[in-house]
Amino acid sequence: MAVLILMAVGIFSYNMVGTAVARFVLIDSAPEQPINFSHKIHAGDNELPCRFCHIYARRSKVSGVPSIERCMGCHKSIRKDRPEVKKLAKYWEKKEPIYWVKVHDLPDYIYFPHKRHIKAGMECQECHGDVKEMAVIRQVSSLDMGWCLACHKDRNGPTDCWECHV
Ligand code: HEC
Ligand code: HEC
Ligand code: HEC
Ligand code: HEC
Ligand code: HEC
Repeated sequence: MAVLILMAVGIFSYNMVGTAVARFVLIDSAPEQPINFSHKIHAGDNELPCRFCHIYARRSKVSGVPSIERCMGCHKSIRKDRPEVKKLAKYWEKKEPIYWVKVHDLPDYIYFPHKRHIKAGMECQECHGDVKEMAVIRQVSSLDMGWCLACHKDRNGPTDCWECHV
Protein backbone atom coordinates (compact mmCIF):
# COMPACT_ATOMS: atom_id res chain seq x y z
CA MET A 1 0.00 0.00 0.00
CA ALA A 2 2.72 2.43 1.04
CA VAL A 3 4.58 1.59 -2.15
CA LEU A 4 1.53 2.20 -4.31
CA ILE A 5 0.92 5.57 -2.73
CA LEU A 6 4.55 6.56 -3.19
CA MET A 7 4.43 5.46 -6.81
CA ALA A 8 1.27 7.43 -7.40
CA VAL A 9 2.83 10.49 -5.82
CA GLY A 10 5.94 9.88 -7.92
CA ILE A 11 4.01 9.80 -11.20
CA PHE A 12 1.90 12.76 -10.15
CA SER A 13 4.90 14.93 -9.37
CA TYR A 14 6.65 13.67 -12.51
CA ASN A 15 3.87 15.13 -14.61
CA MET A 16 3.59 18.26 -12.55
CA VAL A 17 7.11 19.28 -11.76
CA GLY A 18 9.47 16.91 -13.52
CA THR A 19 11.88 14.11 -12.89
CA ALA A 20 13.72 15.57 -9.92
CA VAL A 21 10.72 15.48 -7.62
CA ALA A 22 9.61 12.04 -8.79
CA ARG A 23 13.08 10.67 -8.10
CA PHE A 24 13.23 12.32 -4.73
CA VAL A 25 9.96 10.76 -3.67
CA LEU A 26 10.94 7.32 -4.95
CA ILE A 27 14.44 7.34 -3.48
CA ASP A 28 13.12 8.28 -0.11
CA SER A 29 10.78 5.29 0.02
CA ALA A 30 11.51 2.61 2.57
CA PRO A 31 8.52 0.27 2.48
CA GLU A 32 7.22 -1.46 5.55
CA GLN A 33 8.53 -5.04 5.69
CA PRO A 34 6.85 -8.21 7.04
CA ILE A 35 9.55 -8.36 9.74
CA ASN A 36 11.35 -5.36 11.11
CA PHE A 37 14.85 -6.32 9.96
CA SER A 38 17.75 -3.97 10.69
CA HIS A 39 20.91 -3.84 8.61
CA LYS A 40 22.44 -1.66 11.30
CA ILE A 41 22.15 -4.45 13.90
CA HIS A 42 23.33 -7.23 11.58
CA ALA A 43 25.80 -5.75 9.08
CA GLY A 44 26.82 -2.86 11.38
CA ASP A 45 26.90 -3.71 15.09
CA ASN A 46 27.47 -7.43 14.52
CA GLU A 47 29.66 -6.97 11.45
CA LEU A 48 28.11 -9.72 9.34
CA PRO A 49 29.49 -9.45 5.80
CA CYS A 50 26.94 -8.51 3.14
CA ARG A 51 27.55 -11.71 1.28
CA PHE A 52 26.89 -13.87 4.33
CA CYS A 53 23.23 -13.18 3.59
CA HIS A 54 23.21 -11.98 -0.01
CA ILE A 55 25.01 -15.07 -1.19
CA TYR A 56 24.27 -14.78 -4.87
CA ALA A 57 25.90 -11.43 -5.52
CA ARG A 58 29.08 -12.89 -6.97
CA ARG A 59 27.47 -15.65 -8.95
CA SER A 60 24.25 -14.56 -10.55
CA LYS A 61 22.24 -11.78 -12.07
CA VAL A 62 20.37 -11.01 -8.86
CA SER A 63 21.64 -10.57 -5.32
CA GLY A 64 18.78 -12.40 -3.73
CA VAL A 65 17.48 -12.17 -0.22
CA PRO A 66 18.52 -14.72 2.45
CA SER A 67 16.45 -17.76 3.30
CA ILE A 68 14.79 -18.10 6.68
CA GLU A 69 17.13 -20.96 7.36
CA ARG A 70 20.01 -18.50 7.39
CA CYS A 71 18.23 -16.33 9.94
CA MET A 72 17.26 -19.28 12.12
CA GLY A 73 20.86 -20.42 12.26
CA CYS A 74 21.19 -17.68 14.88
CA HIS A 75 17.64 -16.97 15.98
CA LYS A 76 16.89 -20.47 17.23
CA SER A 77 18.85 -19.22 20.22
CA ILE A 78 19.34 -15.43 19.91
CA ARG A 79 16.54 -13.12 21.19
CA LYS A 80 13.86 -15.81 20.93
CA ASP A 81 11.67 -13.81 23.30
CA ARG A 82 11.38 -10.73 21.05
CA PRO A 83 8.11 -10.23 19.10
CA GLU A 84 9.83 -9.73 15.72
CA VAL A 85 11.92 -12.87 16.23
CA LYS A 86 8.79 -14.79 17.21
CA LYS A 87 7.22 -13.70 13.90
CA LEU A 88 10.30 -15.07 12.16
CA ALA A 89 10.02 -18.39 13.99
CA LYS A 90 6.37 -18.67 12.89
CA TYR A 91 7.32 -18.44 9.23
CA TRP A 92 9.93 -21.10 9.91
CA GLU A 93 7.54 -23.48 11.68
CA LYS A 94 4.91 -23.12 8.96
CA LYS A 95 7.57 -23.44 6.24
CA GLU A 96 6.26 -20.24 4.71
CA PRO A 97 8.51 -17.92 2.70
CA ILE A 98 8.81 -14.29 3.78
CA TYR A 99 7.74 -11.94 1.02
CA TRP A 100 10.09 -9.02 1.60
CA VAL A 101 8.94 -5.93 -0.25
CA LYS A 102 11.41 -5.01 -2.97
CA VAL A 103 13.10 -1.68 -2.35
CA HIS A 104 15.10 -1.41 -5.56
CA ASP A 105 13.20 -2.23 -8.70
CA LEU A 106 14.42 -1.42 -12.18
CA PRO A 107 11.95 -1.69 -15.06
CA ASP A 108 11.84 -5.22 -16.54
CA TYR A 109 13.39 -4.08 -19.82
CA ILE A 110 16.67 -3.26 -18.07
CA TYR A 111 19.47 -5.77 -17.71
CA PHE A 112 21.55 -5.19 -14.59
CA PRO A 113 23.94 -8.00 -13.65
CA HIS A 114 25.40 -7.68 -10.13
CA LYS A 115 28.02 -10.25 -10.91
CA ARG A 116 29.80 -8.17 -13.49
CA HIS A 117 29.98 -5.13 -11.23
CA ILE A 118 31.23 -7.03 -8.20
CA LYS A 119 33.83 -8.86 -10.27
CA ALA A 120 35.06 -5.48 -11.53
CA GLY A 121 35.90 -4.68 -7.91
CA MET A 122 33.00 -2.47 -6.85
CA GLU A 123 31.87 -2.38 -3.23
CA CYS A 124 28.17 -2.73 -2.41
CA GLN A 125 28.35 0.64 -0.64
CA GLU A 126 29.23 2.45 -3.83
CA CYS A 127 25.71 1.96 -5.16
CA HIS A 128 23.76 1.17 -1.99
CA GLY A 129 25.27 3.71 0.40
CA ASP A 130 26.15 3.17 4.03
CA VAL A 131 23.91 0.14 4.56
CA LYS A 132 25.65 -0.69 7.84
CA GLU A 133 24.09 2.39 9.36
CA MET A 134 20.56 1.74 8.06
CA ALA A 135 18.00 0.50 10.57
CA VAL A 136 15.61 0.36 7.61
CA ILE A 137 17.09 -0.19 4.18
CA ARG A 138 16.40 2.51 1.60
CA GLN A 139 17.43 3.36 -1.92
CA VAL A 140 20.11 6.06 -2.03
CA SER A 141 20.97 6.15 -5.76
CA SER A 142 18.49 7.26 -8.42
CA LEU A 143 19.09 4.10 -10.55
CA ASP A 144 18.10 6.13 -13.59
CA MET A 145 19.84 5.95 -16.94
CA GLY A 146 21.96 9.03 -16.29
CA TRP A 147 23.32 7.43 -13.13
CA CYS A 148 24.32 4.22 -14.93
CA LEU A 149 25.86 6.10 -17.84
CA ALA A 150 27.82 8.58 -15.74
CA CYS A 151 29.76 5.73 -14.17
CA HIS A 152 30.04 3.74 -17.38
CA LYS A 153 31.58 6.71 -19.16
CA ASP A 154 33.92 7.27 -16.26
CA ARG A 155 35.11 3.70 -15.95
CA ASN A 156 34.78 2.16 -19.38
CA GLY A 157 31.52 0.37 -18.84
CA PRO A 158 29.36 -0.30 -21.94
CA THR A 159 27.34 2.60 -23.39
CA ASP A 160 25.59 0.90 -26.32
CA CYS A 161 21.83 0.92 -25.87
CA TRP A 162 21.42 -2.84 -26.28
CA GLU A 163 23.81 -3.62 -23.42
CA CYS A 164 21.27 -2.42 -20.85
CA HIS A 165 18.00 -2.48 -22.81
CA VAL A 166 16.74 -6.00 -23.40
C1 HEC B 1 21.70 -11.07 8.34
C2 HEC B 1 21.43 -11.02 6.92
C3 HEC B 1 21.81 -9.79 6.11
C4 HEC B 1 23.03 -9.14 6.03
C5 HEC B 1 24.32 -9.44 6.79
C6 HEC B 1 22.88 -8.10 5.03
N1 HEC B 1 21.60 -8.11 4.55
FE1 HEC B 1 20.84 -6.92 3.08
N2 HEC B 1 18.98 -7.73 3.37
C7 HEC B 1 18.67 -8.75 4.24
C8 HEC B 1 17.23 -8.96 4.25
C9 HEC B 1 16.46 -9.96 5.11
C10 HEC B 1 16.68 -8.04 3.33
C11 HEC B 1 15.20 -7.84 2.99
C12 HEC B 1 14.54 -7.04 4.08
C13 HEC B 1 14.80 -5.57 3.98
O1 HEC B 1 14.65 -5.02 2.89
O2 HEC B 1 15.20 -4.97 5.02
C14 HEC B 1 17.81 -7.29 2.79
C15 HEC B 1 17.70 -6.27 1.84
C16 HEC B 1 18.78 -5.61 1.27
C17 HEC B 1 18.69 -4.65 0.19
C18 HEC B 1 17.42 -4.16 -0.45
C19 HEC B 1 16.87 -5.20 -1.40
C20 HEC B 1 15.75 -4.65 -2.22
O3 HEC B 1 14.62 -5.10 -2.03
O4 HEC B 1 15.98 -3.78 -3.05
C21 HEC B 1 19.97 -4.23 -0.10
C22 HEC B 1 20.39 -3.23 -1.15
C23 HEC B 1 20.84 -4.91 0.82
N3 HEC B 1 20.10 -5.74 1.63
C24 HEC B 1 22.20 -4.71 0.86
C25 HEC B 1 23.04 -5.21 1.85
C26 HEC B 1 24.42 -4.79 2.03
C27 HEC B 1 25.15 -3.80 1.15
C28 HEC B 1 24.89 -5.49 3.11
C29 HEC B 1 26.25 -5.38 3.76
C30 HEC B 1 26.66 -4.03 4.21
C31 HEC B 1 23.80 -6.33 3.59
N4 HEC B 1 22.70 -6.13 2.81
C32 HEC B 1 23.89 -7.23 4.65
C33 HEC B 1 19.57 -9.47 5.00
C34 HEC B 1 20.91 -9.13 5.18
C1 HEC C 1 24.98 -14.46 12.71
C2 HEC C 1 23.80 -14.42 13.55
C3 HEC C 1 22.53 -13.77 13.02
C4 HEC C 1 21.87 -14.02 11.82
C5 HEC C 1 22.29 -14.94 10.70
C6 HEC C 1 20.66 -13.22 11.87
N1 HEC C 1 20.60 -12.51 13.04
FE1 HEC C 1 19.07 -11.29 13.59
N2 HEC C 1 20.13 -10.73 15.26
C7 HEC C 1 21.37 -11.22 15.60
C8 HEC C 1 21.87 -10.49 16.76
C9 HEC C 1 23.20 -10.71 17.48
C10 HEC C 1 20.87 -9.52 17.08
C11 HEC C 1 20.93 -8.43 18.13
C12 HEC C 1 20.52 -8.90 19.45
C13 HEC C 1 20.60 -7.72 20.41
O1 HEC C 1 21.69 -7.20 20.58
O2 HEC C 1 19.54 -7.30 20.89
C14 HEC C 1 19.78 -9.72 16.11
C15 HEC C 1 18.58 -9.02 16.14
C16 HEC C 1 17.51 -9.29 15.30
C17 HEC C 1 16.19 -8.70 15.42
C18 HEC C 1 15.76 -7.69 16.48
C19 HEC C 1 15.27 -8.41 17.71
C20 HEC C 1 14.82 -7.40 18.74
O3 HEC C 1 15.63 -7.06 19.60
O4 HEC C 1 13.69 -6.95 18.65
C21 HEC C 1 15.43 -9.20 14.38
C22 HEC C 1 13.96 -8.90 14.08
C23 HEC C 1 16.28 -10.08 13.61
N3 HEC C 1 17.52 -10.11 14.21
C24 HEC C 1 15.87 -10.74 12.46
C25 HEC C 1 16.73 -11.48 11.65
C26 HEC C 1 16.39 -11.98 10.33
C27 HEC C 1 15.06 -11.77 9.63
C28 HEC C 1 17.48 -12.66 9.88
C29 HEC C 1 17.68 -13.33 8.54
C30 HEC C 1 17.49 -12.48 7.37
C31 HEC C 1 18.50 -12.58 10.91
N4 HEC C 1 18.01 -11.85 11.96
C32 HEC C 1 19.73 -13.19 10.83
C33 HEC C 1 22.04 -12.26 14.99
C34 HEC C 1 21.72 -12.81 13.76
C1 HEC D 1 27.04 -0.85 -9.65
C2 HEC D 1 26.03 -0.66 -8.64
C3 HEC D 1 25.73 -1.76 -7.66
C4 HEC D 1 26.61 -2.46 -6.85
C5 HEC D 1 28.13 -2.33 -6.79
C6 HEC D 1 25.80 -3.37 -6.04
N1 HEC D 1 24.48 -3.20 -6.34
FE1 HEC D 1 22.91 -4.18 -5.51
N2 HEC D 1 21.61 -3.29 -6.81
C7 HEC D 1 21.99 -2.37 -7.77
C8 HEC D 1 20.84 -2.09 -8.62
C9 HEC D 1 20.84 -1.14 -9.82
C10 HEC D 1 19.78 -2.88 -8.13
C11 HEC D 1 18.35 -2.99 -8.68
C12 HEC D 1 18.28 -4.21 -9.58
C13 HEC D 1 16.93 -4.47 -10.18
O1 HEC D 1 15.94 -3.88 -9.74
O2 HEC D 1 16.85 -5.30 -11.09
C14 HEC D 1 20.29 -3.62 -6.97
C15 HEC D 1 19.55 -4.50 -6.20
C16 HEC D 1 20.05 -5.17 -5.08
C17 HEC D 1 19.27 -6.05 -4.22
C18 HEC D 1 17.81 -6.36 -4.39
C19 HEC D 1 17.62 -7.73 -5.00
C20 HEC D 1 18.13 -7.79 -6.38
O3 HEC D 1 19.15 -8.46 -6.59
O4 HEC D 1 17.54 -7.13 -7.26
C21 HEC D 1 20.12 -6.53 -3.25
C22 HEC D 1 19.78 -7.50 -2.14
C23 HEC D 1 21.41 -5.95 -3.51
N3 HEC D 1 21.34 -5.13 -4.63
C24 HEC D 1 22.54 -6.21 -2.75
C25 HEC D 1 23.83 -5.87 -3.13
C26 HEC D 1 25.02 -6.34 -2.45
C27 HEC D 1 25.04 -7.24 -1.22
C28 HEC D 1 26.09 -5.80 -3.10
C29 HEC D 1 27.56 -6.03 -2.84
C30 HEC D 1 27.99 -7.42 -2.83
C31 HEC D 1 25.55 -4.98 -4.20
N4 HEC D 1 24.19 -5.07 -4.19
C32 HEC D 1 26.32 -4.24 -5.10
C33 HEC D 1 23.23 -1.79 -7.91
C34 HEC D 1 24.39 -2.24 -7.32
C1 HEC E 1 29.69 2.82 -10.04
C2 HEC E 1 29.84 2.48 -11.44
C3 HEC E 1 28.71 1.79 -12.18
C4 HEC E 1 27.37 2.00 -12.08
C5 HEC E 1 26.64 2.99 -11.17
C6 HEC E 1 26.73 1.11 -13.01
N1 HEC E 1 27.67 0.37 -13.67
FE1 HEC E 1 27.32 -1.08 -15.08
N2 HEC E 1 29.30 -1.44 -15.23
C7 HEC E 1 30.29 -0.71 -14.62
C8 HEC E 1 31.59 -1.15 -15.12
C9 HEC E 1 32.96 -0.59 -14.72
C10 HEC E 1 31.33 -2.18 -16.06
C11 HEC E 1 32.36 -2.98 -16.87
C12 HEC E 1 32.77 -4.16 -16.05
C13 HEC E 1 33.76 -5.02 -16.77
O1 HEC E 1 34.31 -4.59 -17.77
O2 HEC E 1 33.97 -6.14 -16.29
C14 HEC E 1 29.89 -2.33 -16.11
C15 HEC E 1 29.24 -3.27 -16.89
C16 HEC E 1 27.86 -3.32 -17.09
C17 HEC E 1 27.20 -4.21 -18.03
C18 HEC E 1 27.85 -5.24 -18.96
C19 HEC E 1 27.69 -6.60 -18.37
C20 HEC E 1 28.12 -7.68 -19.31
O3 HEC E 1 27.80 -8.83 -18.99
O4 HEC E 1 28.75 -7.39 -20.34
C21 HEC E 1 25.86 -3.92 -17.96
C22 HEC E 1 24.74 -4.57 -18.75
C23 HEC E 1 25.71 -2.88 -16.98
N3 HEC E 1 26.94 -2.54 -16.47
C24 HEC E 1 24.49 -2.31 -16.64
C25 HEC E 1 24.34 -1.28 -15.72
C26 HEC E 1 23.07 -0.65 -15.43
C27 HEC E 1 21.75 -0.98 -16.09
C28 HEC E 1 23.32 0.29 -14.47
C29 HEC E 1 22.34 1.24 -13.81
C30 HEC E 1 21.11 0.68 -13.29
C31 HEC E 1 24.74 0.24 -14.16
N4 HEC E 1 25.33 -0.71 -14.95
C32 HEC E 1 25.36 1.05 -13.22
C33 HEC E 1 30.12 0.28 -13.67
C34 HEC E 1 28.90 0.76 -13.21
C1 HEC F 1 24.27 1.66 -18.80
C2 HEC F 1 22.91 1.27 -19.05
C3 HEC F 1 22.09 1.97 -20.12
C4 HEC F 1 22.46 2.26 -21.42
C5 HEC F 1 23.81 1.99 -22.08
C6 HEC F 1 21.32 2.90 -22.04
N1 HEC F 1 20.28 2.96 -21.14
FE1 HEC F 1 18.43 3.76 -21.52
N2 HEC F 1 17.86 3.34 -19.60
C7 HEC F 1 18.66 2.75 -18.64
C8 HEC F 1 17.92 2.63 -17.42
C9 HEC F 1 18.42 2.04 -16.11
C10 HEC F 1 16.63 3.13 -17.69
C11 HEC F 1 15.42 3.15 -16.77
C12 HEC F 1 15.63 3.97 -15.58
C13 HEC F 1 14.84 5.20 -15.57
O1 HEC F 1 13.73 5.18 -15.09
O2 HEC F 1 15.37 6.23 -16.03
C14 HEC F 1 16.62 3.59 -19.06
C15 HEC F 1 15.54 4.20 -19.68
C16 HEC F 1 15.51 4.59 -21.01
C17 HEC F 1 14.38 5.18 -21.67
C18 HEC F 1 13.05 5.49 -21.02
C19 HEC F 1 13.18 6.79 -20.27
C20 HEC F 1 11.97 7.19 -19.52
O3 HEC F 1 12.01 8.27 -18.91
O4 HEC F 1 10.99 6.44 -19.50
C21 HEC F 1 14.73 5.41 -22.98
C22 HEC F 1 13.87 6.02 -24.06
C23 HEC F 1 16.13 4.98 -23.12
N3 HEC F 1 16.55 4.49 -21.91
C24 HEC F 1 16.84 5.04 -24.31
C25 HEC F 1 18.19 4.66 -24.44
C26 HEC F 1 18.96 4.79 -25.68
C27 HEC F 1 18.42 5.32 -27.00
C28 HEC F 1 20.22 4.32 -25.39
C29 HEC F 1 21.44 4.29 -26.32
C30 HEC F 1 21.86 5.57 -26.87
C31 HEC F 1 20.23 3.91 -24.00
N4 HEC F 1 18.98 4.14 -23.45
C32 HEC F 1 21.32 3.35 -23.35
C33 HEC F 1 19.95 2.31 -18.79
C34 HEC F 1 20.71 2.42 -19.95
